[in-house]
Amino acid sequence: MLAVLALASAFLSSGVVAVKPIHSHNDYLQAVPFWTAFNLSVMSVEADVWWQSNQLFVAHTSGEIVKTKTLQSLYLDNILGIINGSISVPTPISVSNPLQLLIDMKSSGASTYQPVHDALQPLRAGGHLTTYDATSGTLTAGAVTVVGTGNTPLASVVAANPRDVFFDSDIRTLFSTVPGPNLPWGPNITPLASVDWSSVSSTAQMQELVRNAHDLRVRSRFWDTPASVSTWNTFWAAGSDWVNADDLKAVSDAWATFQAQLEPTRFEYTGL
Ligand SMILES: *[C@@H]1O[C@H](CO)[C@@H](O)[C@H](O)[C@H]1NC(C)=O
Ligand SMILES: *[C@@H]1O[C@H](CO)[C@@H](O)[C@H](O)[C@H]1NC(C)=O
Repeated sequence: MLAVLALASAFLSSGVVAVKPIHSHNDYLQAVPFWTAFNLSVMSVEADVWWQSNQLFVAHTSGEIVKTKTLQSLYLDNILGIINGSISVPTPISVSNPLQLLIDMKSSGASTYQPVHDALQPLRAGGHLTTYDATSGTLTAGAVTVVGTGNTPLASVVAANPRDVFFDSDIRTLFSTVPGPNLPWGPNITPLASVDWSSVSSTAQMQELVRNAHDLRVRSRFWDTPASVSTWNTFWAAGSDWVNADDLKAVSDAWATFQAQLEPTRFEYTGL
């Protein structure tokens, strides 16, 4: 019945993956980081990371750093454990149930990029990361897509070949800027593009930004939005791919209601 409401992954060649269009913003502040989202099938999570004392700590500000909360302990160990079967879950993370991991580099990009890249090595070695091979121009979907945001240095992302740390771009400038010489924006660099909601002047502008992003096969996200059902519905109706959520249960419930009320003949999801 809701066949038209399928968000196929931008880069999967086989099959259509139903992605719940919800992103767990500041995920580490949830009751149980990673697991609250994962158990609600919210398959996009965001961690703020600080490179300090040779560790990648997860915290909103450097003053809130706690020794036990690292990218490894809260996220990477769980993700790899689920993928390799050492942690048993009903629906594992896989190419057909992919996870998007946003890493918001809070410390400088120059100091943080390489440690983040290195920390992903076990996932990389297992072939679990979405990877772009610039030599052959091939984007291969993995179980996990890592997207750097915050201070992530675009030049390092662009220079990497193969590339498995992608970049959260500014959705407003997808057509007025390029990530490098003769290089258009696309999912091989920026699987998602974002902007804060206060920078968008109207629903019409939001809809246009979503359409522009989709023309480049890039997904859209607006952050710092009002937390209301009508706001979330406005994004979903426009085909906006990731609703930035803090109250994951409330947004999941709203999504279930939104889906159930659709009239498929009138509604065509414009997601990728
Ligand atoms: C998530 O689900 C698992 C079972 O797959 C359960 O053991 C765990 O307690 C749940 N955690 C949360 C935070 O819901
Ligand atoms: C599975 O992943 C966990 C990390 O959570 C790791 O400790 C363990 O060694 C891995 N097991 C295998 C068989 O790769």
